Amino acid sequence: MKSSANAVRSPRVVNIGDLRRLARRRLPRGVFDYLDGGAEAEITLAENLRVFQDVTFRPRNAVAIGACNLKTQVLGEELSFPALLAPVGYSRLIHPGGEVAAARAAGEAGTGYILSTISGHKLERVKAATKGPAWYQLYLVGGREAAEAAIERAHRAGFTALVITVDTPVAGMRERDPRNGMKELLGASLFAKLPYLPGILAHPRWLISFLWDGGVPKLENIVIPGQGPMKLIDVVAALSHAVVTWKDLRWIREIWRGPIVVKGILTGDDARRAADEGAAAVVVSNHGGRQLDGVSPSLRALPEVVAAAGGQVEVLMDGGIRRGSDIIKALCLGARAVLVGRAYAYGLAAAGEAGVARSLEILKDDVERTLRLLGCSSIAGLNRSYLDTRTLENNLR
Ligand code: GLV
Repeated sequence: MKSSANAVRSPRVVNIGDLRRLARRRLPRGVFDYLDGGAEAEITLAENLRVFQDVTFRPRNAVAIGACNLKTQVLGEELSFPALLAPVGYSRLIHPGGEVAAARAAGEAGTGYILSTISGHKLERVKAATKGPAWYQLYLVGGREAAEAAIERAHRAGFTALVITVDTPVAGMRERDPRNGMKELLGASLFAKLPYLPGILAHPRWLISFLWDGGVPKLENIVIPGQGPMKLIDVVAALSHAVVTWKDLRWIREIWRGPIVVKGILTGDDARRAADEGAAAVVVSNHGGRQLDGVSPSLRALPEVVAAAGGQVEVLMDGGIRRGSDIIKALCLGARAVLVGRAYAYGLAAAGEAGVARSLEILKDDVERTLRLLGCSSIAGLNRSYLDTRTLENNLR
């Protein structure tokens, strides 16, 4: 049997879709669907991907490009190419290396890693694993005291920005999860798990690595006073008390002196509000189509947010990025950088750190090739003149 690290290096693995195929093979269905799925009819999930077709390129041909400069700066930190790793909850269920493996691969690739609150590894270990920028994403799961302690730990460990997710007043209805028994599988009752066990047993390689890693991990960064790290709970329970509101931003500002990034912005109004509340950056995001189904795909919401931000806050975006050309389109529409979630998590599932490294290599090579084909020598040189946006604009009317 081929080792997983060799499998992601096979010449037949040429794009993120190929890594998704490997992830699907390796993971039990419940874990794969948690990662791959979206809310309700998955309309926004599908639109996040499809909308990139509404924008076409206008290259400058007959241009010889020497060296290409892929570097960019986000919140003053240099990235080797304009994609950071988005917070992905339950990464340690996807692969035992989880957040540590992903952070290390991000650092090796010269880019940033954003650690989710719903993490199975201690934030200090994650930070120590990466030589790149590391940001901490905050949910209020576990209550304010637990969050205050995590913010303090994140600061001491060297995380440089705090990412506040604002689109989770409750969890979206991800219909694949209850069908796959995710709540039962993560719960305590063996009896309740029984109907779902055959699906797990069909993936012995994942199962062995999961058991070898100690089984269901704790939420190591949600430390409940007097009780210790919180038990891992399913996503519906986790997000039911997770949201951070504009009001919470005030006390968070008191204890976190670094930059705050507000993630989950889809309108110009919310972008202005985030700026007024002191955010340094916003992420145009619909949570990968996992929350309110039927909202705009991120790329379509991006121009409105960029216009409202007016250069006052940096604008990032996530949602549907599977190719370097998607990254370039988002940048031409005004994003400073993108966040990739599933695109690296498929690699993580397929082969841990080696799989994340392969995902990032694919995206980075894509970005460079796309720049060359466009006749543009640097990320800084991108602008809207490289795009035909008529279809996107027509769809906005
Ligand atoms: C967690 O944030 C999730 O979207 O599952």
